[in-house]
Amino acid sequence: MSAKFVIRGGRALSGRVACSGSKNSALPIITAAALASSGEVVLDNVPQYSDIYDLCQILKDLGAEIEFVGPTTLRVRAANLSGHVAPYQLARKLRGSTYVAGLLLGRLGRAEVACPGGCAIGSRPIDFHLKGFQALGAEVGVERGCIVGQAGSAGRLKGARFYIDRASFGTTVNMMIAAVLAEGTTVLENAAREPEIVDLATFMNSMGAQVRGAGTNTIRIEGVPELKGASHEIIPDRLEAGTYLMAAGITGGEITVDQCIPEHLHTVLVKLQEAGMEITEGFDSIHLKAHRPIQSVDIETQPHPGFATDLQSPFLALMTLGNGISVINETIFENRFSVANELMRMGANIKVDRNTGIVRGVERLTGAPVEATDLRGGAALVVAGLAAEGITEVNNVIWIDRGYYRLEESLGRLGAEISREGAAPLLGED
Ligand code: EPU
Repeated sequence: MSAKFVIRGGRALSGRVACSGSKNSALPIITAAALASSGEVVLDNVPQYSDIYDLCQILKDLGAEIEFVGPTTLRVRAANLSGHVAPYQLARKLRGSTYVAGLLLGRLGRAEVACPGGCAIGSRPIDFHLKGFQALGAEVGVERGCIVGQAGSAGRLKGARFYIDRASFGTTVNMMIAAVLAEGTTVLENAAREPEIVDLATFMNSMGAQVRGAGTNTIRIEGVPELKGASHEIIPDRLEAGTYLMAAGITGGEITVDQCIPEHLHTVLVKLQEAGMEITEGFDSIHLKAHRPIQSVDIETQPHPGFATDLQSPFLALMTLGNGISVINETIFENRFSVANELMRMGANIKVDRNTGIVRGVERLTGAPVEATDLRGGAALVVAGLAAEGITEVNNVIWIDRGYYRLEESLGRLGAEISREGAAPLLGED
C-alpha cells in the first residue's frame, strides 16, 4: 500500500530550501544521452524520482550502460544500444517513455515502445508525435498498445519542416531527439519554448548536434551522422520551486528558495505578487514574504512563458483562502480539476465548469483524509494541508514521489509538521 503524509497544519513556513534538478528536463536529456554512439555522458543534478529510475531501466534493457556514480550524477554509455523493443510494462508507466520512440527511430531506425502512461490529468494523446515521426519519413502507427515505427528506405530519418498543432512540450522534445541524427534539415514550427527545451538543445549541442532556435517557436536542426559523449548539468526544477513558494504563501510564511532560476518562473511570480506576496529575486534564489489577506486573482494556464499548468493545482490550493473570487482557466489538461473535490473535503468552495474553476475564498480550511490522484494535484493537497486546521492525511503519496524528492523532509526543514507513514519512498533511497 502506498504511503501517506500526515500533516498538522497551521505553521508558517520559514527558512531556506534548495531545488532539485528538473524532472521534465532530466527525462529528455537522459534519453538523448543514449543517442551517443561513442564516449560517455555524465549528467549532474539528476533528480531521484521513480520516473527517472524507470526510464534508466528501459534504456538498460535496450543495451545502454547507466549508473548513478554520485547521489545526483548519472553516467550513460550507449555505444552498445541495440534493442529496439522497449519493455512494455515499464514503458507504459511513464509519459517520458514516448521519447524512447524518438531515440530509437533516430538512432536505430526502428522502434517499438508502449504507448505512454503518466499522470491522470487528461486523455494525453500521442497523435502529434506520430505525425511528427511520419513527417521525418517514418512509417509509424499504434499496434498491440505500442508505437511501432520504422525509418524510411536507408534506415535513417529524413529532415523535414513540421508544424506542431499545439506548442506541445513532449512533441517538441521527441522531434528534436529524432531529428538530430536525421539526414538533412528539420524545422520545427510552433515549437514549445519551455526552459527544459533549451536545456535539451544545449546538451545535445554539447554532444555534437546542430540545434538552433530552442526557446523560440522555430527550432532548426541540421542532422549530423553521429553524436559523442559530453557532460551537462540539468537545470533546476521550476515546478518544485513554485510549489514551495505557494506553500509558504498559504501559510503566511517567509522563505528563500535556493538553486533555482527566477526567470523560469516569471509569470508565476507576477501572479504571486498580485496575490499579495512580496517577492525578491536573487541571482539563483527567490525570497517570498507572505502578506495577509491573500488576494484572489485570476489565472489562465498557457504553454511557456504563460502560467504553467503544473502549478495551477498548488495555485488553486492557495486561492481557496483568498479574500474574494478567483477564476482559474485550465487550457492544457482537462482533468487537472479533479483535485477540487478533495480540496472541498477540506472546506474549500470551488465550482468547476468544464475547464474553468471558480474559487470563492473561505476563512479557513480544516484537515481531512484526502487522496492524491496525480503529481501536482497531490502537491496541492499538501499545500492546503499545511494551512488547514488540524490533521490532513494525504494518501497515495506514490504520485507525489514521482516529482518531489522526499517532499516531507524539505517542508519539515521549513518548519512544517509533516511525516510520512507507511511504505518508504519506492526509489531514491540512500
Ligand atoms: N497533445 C495532443 N497530442 C499530442 C501531444 C499533446 O493533443 O500528441 C495535447 C495534450 O493533450 C495537451 C497539450 O497538447 O492538451 C499539451 O501537451 P504537452 O505535449 O505539452 O504535454 P506533455 O509533453 O505530455 C509535459 C510534462 C507535463 C507538463 C506538460 C505541459 C513531461 C514528462 N510531462 O507533458 O508534466 O504538464 O508538458 O507543460 O515532461 C508534470 O510534471 O506533472 C507533468 C504532467
